[in-house]
Amino acid sequence: MEYKIALIKGDGIGPEIIDQAVRVLKAVEEKCGHSFKFEEVLAGGAAIDAEGVNLPDRTLEVCKESDAVMLGAVGGPKWDDLKGELRPEKALLTLRRELGLYANIRPAVMFEELADACPLKDEIVEGGLDIVIVRELTGGIYFGKRATEGSHAYDCMEYWEYEVARIAERAFEIAMKRNKKVTSVDKANVLDSSRLWRKTVEKTAKKYPEVEVEHLYVDNAAMQLVVNPKQFDVILTGNMFGDILSDEASMITGSIGLLPSASIGEQNYGMFEPIHGSAPDIAGQNKANPIATILSAAMMLKYSFGLEAESAMIENAVKKALKGGHRTADISKEESYLSTVEITDRIIAAL
Ligand code: NAI
Ligand code: MG
Repeated sequence: MEYKIALIKGDGIGPEIIDQAVRVLKAVEEKCGHSFKFEEVLAGGAAIDAEGVNLPDRTLEVCKESDAVMLGAVGGPKWDDLKGELRPEKALLTLRRELGLYANIRPAVMFEELADACPLKDEIVEGGLDIVIVRELTGGIYFGKRATEGSHAYDCMEYWEYEVARIAERAFEIAMKRNKKVTSVDKANVLDSSRLWRKTVEKTAKKYPEVEVEHLYVDNAAMQLVVNPKQFDVILTGNMFGDILSDEASMITGSIGLLPSASIGEQNYGMFEPIHGSAPDIAGQNKANPIATILSAAMMLKYSFGLEAESAMIENAVKKALKGGHRTADISKEESYLSTVEITDRIIAAL
């Protein structure tokens, strides 16, 4: 099969880490006989410098024509004086909305070999952590009615049943391929939108009798994540609660340079990116950890292309490289460490 992938390298470390993901995909291509066609387009600061806008029309066109999008990260101090709509990061919100990417999927996995990076006590995370957060991305309070009226301002948390149903469906499908447990997080004791959320999740759950469903209030969920994170498998939640909980969950694994994410829309079309930003402090030094981006490529193979075996191949290669003691600066405890390119060499060798 041939797959077309739009590449938005972005700013800061973006180009360095995307280049490594492309190297890994080319190695998979060679091994498995698929064909990946890459097309590079601009967004964020790089686009502002070249064309004066953060998201050129052509970028959106190429993304829409492609089967998936890979993104490094955008933004940096160079563009910090720009306001609102003009900011590099605004390009991402526009992309998500224009591409209809309503499901944000963020695995929070603690690699056994890096357990000492976890801020929680050993006994709490013994045996490792493997959680997937499924966050609704195009509704809720970030997109509801809003206004500022003098000394009064409001943002409304609004949800339609169809918005809840489609994200719930995603979560249950993912759960079916994992440990068949979904924890839905809301604030149904207080919010009407959460009561609709809960009712809709219950309705979807009926289609998946094998999956165990649990409902938690968001405040309790935040607490449970640090007290007993191993109880979670798939966490299903709305836009704002998911924004907060996914940052919390990723940080208990201790590793910003290791975690990937996917934003998916209809027909499994998706955009895949590391959870971290453009890390301007280490840009251009061949020092960034490319693993989050390489694992984002693995998510693309699984979620957008249905290439589960190839996706697992990349994940296993990363685990093998880590097991072999190979470390970039951010996760190394020694004076010496591997460069962005060198760790990728090890991962490709392990494929
Ligand atoms: P950041 O994630 O870029 O950096 C936070 C810290 O983590 C820095 O010390 C950085 O060196 C380190 N770090 C991040 N990724 C790393 C990697 N792969 N390997 C090794 N170390 C890594 O967050 P920060 O500093 O808040 O934001 C920098 C810029 O990135 C800002 O302009 C921000 O708006 C933008 N940003 C963009 C995102 C995106 O494009 N999706 C997401 C988050 C931030
Ligand atoms: Mg956030």
